Amino acid sequence: MGSPQHPSWLLAVDFGTSNTAAAYVSPESGRLMTLPLSHSGNLMPSAAFVSAPNQIEVGEVALNRAASDPSGYLSAPKRLITLGETVFRVGDWDIPAHHVVAAVLHSVLLRVKAQNRGQAPAGLVLTHPEGWSPQQIAVLTQAAGVVGYPAHTVTVVSEPQAAVHFYARGRAGAVGGHVAVFDFGGGTLDIAVLSSPSAGSFRVLGTHGDNALGGRNFDTAIRRWVDVVLDDRNPDLAAALLNAAAFHELRGLEESVRRAKELLSEAPSATVEVTVGGRREVLSLTRNEFEALILHDVERGVELARNVFRTARVAENIREIYLTGGSSRIPLVHKHVQALGAIATLDDPKTVVAQGALVAVARRMVGGSGPAAHYPATATPRPAPAP
Ligand SMILES: Nc1ncnc2c1ncn2[C@@H]1O[C@H](COP(=O)(O)OP(=O)(O)OP(=O)(O)O)[C@@H](O)[C@H]1O
Ligand SMILES: [Mg+2]
Repeated sequence: MGSPQHPSWLLAVDFGTSNTAAAYVSPESGRLMTLPLSHSGNLMPSAAFVSAPNQIEVGEVALNRAASDPSGYLSAPKRLITLGETVFRVGDWDIPAHHVVAAVLHSVLLRVKAQNRGQAPAGLVLTHPEGWSPQQIAVLTQAAGVVGYPAHTVTVVSEPQAAVHFYARGRAGAVGGHVAVFDFGGGTLDIAVLSSPSAGSFRVLGTHGDNALGGRNFDTAIRRWVDVVLDDRNPDLAAALLNAAAFHELRGLEESVRRAKELLSEAPSATVEVTVGGRREVLSLTRNEFEALILHDVERGVELARNVFRTARVAENIREIYLTGGSSRIPLVHKHVQALGAIATLDDPKTVVAQGALVAVARRMVGGSGPAAHYPATATPRPAPAP
């Protein structure tokens, strides 16, 4: 790869319901790189905090601001877009959804430029759930426009298709048969089934997404369990939680629930802490209890996949199922998906979509699968202004 303005100097952003991840093709080495988005790792929370219509903070900063002023906080803006909102009501303001996404892109761009001697990427690759409509996808492209990337410099790729490109990269032996992606994230479940007629090329045979099924459903199930158990064990605290809990106490409980859920993928039990007005209770949840709470949702997801396979007429012939997305780490999900076909090795489920989006675009360039992308061959974007 040549200079920083080389056309392959692309940034891919996977704007997730819970987390945002990004990857780029290094303008120096031409290698696929994951972009660190926080001091501790590759992800940043997709949350936003609106202090004024033209001042939107994102990621850890947004979480921090929310602690002192919950009124400007948007915990999962992508979820609202998935639900069909194009304008968010925040405090007294109406904030266009694409301005919030633009703030996320702006923050990612600052980081990728800092990693690459201040040079801006030539184009963006943005990923979206399989089930999003053209209007919902347009929120992403409008956001790109706000940060200096007009439509001809932006490519969109669906999340499960990006994931399959990542997993199948460089696997010359993996030819023939069908592969599927089960991308179980925070807010959506995305399924794709593809045939691989020759090395590195794919034909999409069927896709489907459930925009209302993800890790947040499991958080909600645990939260309901907390209400029931607390009502029995400590009715005063249950009433205080319902009527008198401060924002930071509710956020603390939300975090405790999420951490317990994630720990239950590794451990047989985990605790959830409830604190309201100095009163505290610690509840223990076993993996068996958790599995009973989520069984119906997991079965619904697996049934969706089975239907996609059936419709694509490949039900008996899936060579590998790639599990990706944070919620795919849940053992019960493995167990049930296994009934559909062999599960391929898990890689890093956090950044496969962003990296795979770049692989997908590169393949389209060299005449691989799918329609030709409008590749940003000569674009020289303006420096990204503050959104
Ligand atoms: N070890 C784990 N066990 C169970 N759930 C987990 C684990 N790790 C992460 N999760 C859950 O995965 C979800 C986040 O996954 P991911 O980052 O793939 O989603 P996303 O990309 O933000 O969402 P989406 O793709 O649906 O828009 C959260 O609900 C998180 O709690
Ligand atoms: Mg995702």
